[in-house]
Amino acid sequence: MTALRSDALRGRHAIVTGGARGIGLAIARRCLQAGASVALWDLDAAVLSAAVQALEPLGTATSAVVDVRDEAQIARAAAQSQERFGSLDILVNNAGILGPTVPSWAHTPAQWRDVLDVNLTGAWLCCRAVAPVMLAQRRGRIVNIASVAGKEGNGLNAAYSASKAGLIALTKSLGKELASSGVLVNCITPSAADTEVFAAVPAEHREQLRTALLSRVPMGRFVEVDEVAAMAAWLASDDCSFSTGAVFDISGGRSLY
Ligand SMILES: NC(=O)c1ccc[n+]([C@@H]2O[C@H](COP(=O)([O-])OP(=O)(O)OC[C@H]3O[C@@H](n4cnc5c(N)ncnc54)[C@H](O)[C@@H]3O)[C@@H](O)[C@H]2O)c1
Repeated sequence: MTALRSDALRGRHAIVTGGARGIGLAIARRCLQAGASVALWDLDAAVLSAAVQALEPLGTATSAVVDVRDEAQIARAAAQSQERFGSLDILVNNAGILGPTVPSWAHTPAQWRDVLDVNLTGAWLCCRAVAPVMLAQRRGRIVNIASVAGKEGNGLNAAYSASKAGLIALTKSLGKELASSGVLVNCITPSAADTEVFAAVPAEHREQLRTALLSRVPMGRFVEVDEVAAMAAWLASDDCSFSTGAVFDISGGRSLY
């Protein structure tokens, strides 16, 4: 796939949450290829360090062990990035978990809260830390990785679907609040990508879930992580200049709106 112009993000500093693997890692790679420096924030220290090593040949990649549920960790990592790079230009809220694949009434309250805490409140906490900096700069791009599940509501993934619907609404609210400030806020709603997000599903149900998800995609395949990354990098660039509070579909024809 052709990359965004090699200088489209030159001089910009990007934070990618959940950047150690999967879609987040692909977004980080794409941002580096377009000239940005990138900070990966993730829970998983071991995978994070391997990811940074793999990315270093492409440019300046740093990492911080950050749990997006923890506002103190977020504040510390944001301050470190700002001190080192002088600005916070791009925030990609990508960290996410699938949670249980069971009927909505069979989620435990703890499972329900955990999914909402990571996928929705975590993204909001990161916006809360970074948006004021972007506002003061009069420049920034926030890209939230939601899901087609947030538009349609996937059966057996109610907490996940509700969290992603919430993230879509957060994108719309924040987009309006910042519309005249030079800070644009958009979200992406991918259909299924073949990543480790499915590791949470018990092995005996995993294939069944993947088949069910694929059967809803008219193009009949998983989205590639690089396809999501290409859209995210465009939304993070100045080429995206008149879209905010918007929802960008990347679902192989699954989503009808
Ligand atoms: N894979 C899919 O089918 C799919 C489809 C649509 C949307 N998405 C969304 O894309 C995003 C990335 O998904 P993926 O498939 O790459 O998943 P993944 O499981 O491969 O990677 C997610 C990353 O997030 C990190 N993470 C989890 N909880 C965290 C926390 N509390 N704080 C910081 N980091 C945390 C994990 O350590 C992991 O590195 C998620 O928000 C997911 O919901 C995925």
